[in-house]
Amino acid sequence: MPPVDNTMEKLVSLAKRRGFVFQSSEIYGGLGSVWDYGPLGVELKKNIKERWWRSLVHEREDIEGLDAAILMHPKVWEASGHVSGFTDPLIDCKQCKNRFRADDPRIKGTPGEPSGQCPVCGNKGTLTAPRLFNLMFKTVMGPVEEAAAVVYLRPETAQGIYVNYLNVLQSSRQKIPFGIAQIGKAFRNEITPGNFTFRTREFEQMEMQFFVKPGTDREWFEFWRHERMRWIQGLGVRPEKLRFHQHTKEELAHYAKDAYDIEYEFPFGWQEFEGIHNRTDFDLSRHQEYSGKKLEYLDTGTNERFIPYVVETSAGADRTTLVLLADAYREDEVAGEKRVVLGLHPALAPLKAAVFPLVNKDGMPELARRVFDDLRKHYNVFYDDGGSIGRRYRRQDEAGTPFGITIDGQTLQDQTVTVRDRDTLQQVRLAGDRLVEYLAERLRG
Ligand code: GAP
Repeated sequence: MPPVDNTMEKLVSLAKRRGFVFQSSEIYGGLGSVWDYGPLGVELKKNIKERWWRSLVHEREDIEGLDAAILMHPKVWEASGHVSGFTDPLIDCKQCKNRFRADDPRIKGTPGEPSGQCPVCGNKGTLTAPRLFNLMFKTVMGPVEEAAAVVYLRPETAQGIYVNYLNVLQSSRQKIPFGIAQIGKAFRNEITPGNFTFRTREFEQMEMQFFVKPGTDREWFEFWRHERMRWIQGLGVRPEKLRFHQHTKEELAHYAKDAYDIEYEFPFGWQEFEGIHNRTDFDLSRHQEYSGKKLEYLDTGTNERFIPYVVETSAGADRTTLVLLADAYREDEVAGEKRVVLGLHPALAPLKAAVFPLVNKDGMPELARRVFDDLRKHYNVFYDDGGSIGRRYRRQDEAGTPFGITIDGQTLQDQTVTVRDRDTLQQVRLAGDRLVEYLAERLRG
């Protein structure tokens, strides 16, 4: 038997212990596949989102940002194909009322026939034939429920970009090719959620739609898929844990002509965390048809009018965060003692440094506080005077904090401090007033 990989269990436990991720509504027994980010988790995810935004919206001239509302006109989802096509085939057990995906390997016999046996209650002939079940969450809008319109919680952020594409184009004076980027929540009533924050019912997407002239779409598609792979590797994720997976005809979404997933080898196997899709002119053409508004682009150089093709890069902020956590998790030994370390890229680490007085006397805490107050003007840093210095280091190793700054007896004499590196464990001594500059050099990138 292959050894059991319990890395996920350890990661979930560390995430709770150190305040990265908590189960939603935990005191009520939790809400299925919904998670909350704690003090360190919210910083990590924010750093990832900021980096994504910076690399696409700020560092490029040809991409604009957008923040569209979660609630949209219900016709959007008819036009996009989600009302009719965003479905999973499901099977119900009439006896125990459990619901299964049609491809659930535990189901025996043929559902809908007397041979079909329920994997939960074990009864035969109680399973319905597969029925299509829409994954969109519905709610109602308006003061009186009966008369109010049904609206959906968006299952992808992309549609907010398509319906605003002309607004952005005209207000920003961009020309094709250009892109619109957006970060925001999306909701899907997933039937088989699981694996911690990997598949959840509420999640965040970081999506960019790049509008191009038809005929140039293949080229841009190639460009963006390599660019996105380069980006994730730039966050320090091990290249051997990353790969592309091209969608087969059967796997392609209803809007896509070609698609690649970027996959990471999680402890539970290779899984997608970002997709690059050639959505052609599908979405804009459909919105033109359903809204009756012209969504063509006029190329003023050639006087040509056309509906642009769209190359989409769609990443899950939560899944990317999980990739970074899983990739950073390691156990090693320091002086015969086991330690758990999150080797997060310093630019992404929730806390950049922790400040420790070696002992809580002789003026060390006062001096340490001064160092801390100075640093917090520049970085998210942490002050810790509880327990032995070894234990304080261990706690920060688990939090992924790249630097530990200790104020000791010598600091009182000459204002120098020691800086311990989380990964190499090397300690250097430097003048306290050089700290900001020292950290800046190492946190860049
Ligand atoms: N706009 C295209 C689109 O939404 P997708 O492949 O369905 O494409 C894109 O989703 C990304 O969104 C996925 O790669 C994943 O990172 C994230 N995602 C999708 N469903 C998710 C879920 N239930 N939980 C967490 N993340 C999810």
